[in-house]
Amino acid sequence: MSANTSKIPVTIAGTGCYLPERIMTNEDLEKLVDTSDEWITNLTGIKERRICADDENTSDISTKAAENALENAGIKGADIDLIIVGTVTPDTTTPSTACYVQHNIGAKSALAFDISAACTGFLYAMELAQRMISDGHYKNALIIGAEKLSSVINWEDRNTCVLFGDGAGAAVLTAGSENTGRILATELGTDGSQTSILNIPGGGSACPIRAENVQDKLNFLSMQGREVFKHAVNAMKNSAEAVIEKAGLNADSIKLVVPHQANIRIIDAIADRLTIPNEKIFVNLHKYGNTSAAAVAIALDEAHREGKIQRGDNIILVGFGAGLTWAAIAIEW
Ligand code: ACO
Repeated sequence: MSANTSKIPVTIAGTGCYLPERIMTNEDLEKLVDTSDEWITNLTGIKERRICADDENTSDISTKAAENALENAGIKGADIDLIIVGTVTPDTTTPSTACYVQHNIGAKSALAFDISAACTGFLYAMELAQRMISDGHYKNALIIGAEKLSSVINWEDRNTCVLFGDGAGAAVLTAGSENTGRILATELGTDGSQTSILNIPGGGSACPIRAENVQDKLNFLSMQGREVFKHAVNAMKNSAEAVIEKAGLNADSIKLVVPHQANIRIIDAIADRLTIPNEKIFVNLHKYGNTSAAAVAIALDEAHREGKIQRGDNIILVGFGAGLTWAAIAIEW
């Protein structure tokens, strides 16, 4: 992947997000498993997370985030010609969540599909959408990162249940001009040798939904936290460094870094290694925990709406997830 030298610049025209109403605090989790607010706060920085209602699906929260982003961009669903949803918790294995969203927002002529890249899903979607727009085939793309992780969490496993939450974030990407902001450079990667350290073993063709697999709790997310932590720091630091160089930026010319929101200790370690001051790193994980593909999308929308990103600012998005997958994207807003 290289710096974006395409003729059609791709700009972010709007952002949006949606968080389910129900809040689950660390104190609530103390009643479910042997944990404490102190442990969760000290080791992760998370204080609370949002949980979908039983009848609220990934496509529902995706649709609300999408409507929010469309309004922010000042365009209608009918204007969208491409929808990509990054998720590991689709409503159904097939059809894709993007198909439900297409119908819900009335984007009748949009091509719609999901991608599975775990926490990096939103950034993979951004890379795909910008390539498809800069090729000249599509004009207005809606990219979404959305998860109902509460549906794949074992609420008896303290190693994982304290870390994750539900939510959705979206962005509208559009063909820009010489006078608009643009995606400057991208750096993405995958390491398929580490599939076992973070996965959901059941529910796919290798381990179908059968009574014995459910009994063994194979339908839940499983993680080797320490291993994931190590890889997360290295991959995010290396990809962020590479994209900063490709885009011709440096610590001074970057206004804001929006990292994946998994653990404050991971974020602090990256900031330290990149020598970027903490005030330039956007953090909201204390409110939402790790929402996987939604995390960077929600954080981007919050930073945007809080006025932390202004026209002309250079920002870096960086994420990491199961796969392993990682991505960093440099944007001139
Ligand atoms: N409450 C209290 N104690 C706990 C809890 C809990 N919820 N969970 C684990 N412990 C205990 C462990 O049993 C262990 O006890 P022991 O020392 O008696 O054996 C102790 O706390 C330390 O546990 P570790 O797992 O070694 O702690 P660590 O410093 O590695 O922190 C954590 C754990 C927070 C999970 C960290 O490893 C981490 O954040 N890893 C990365 C996770 C992550 O980012 N995942 C998502 C990646 S992105 C995606 O695609 C989803």
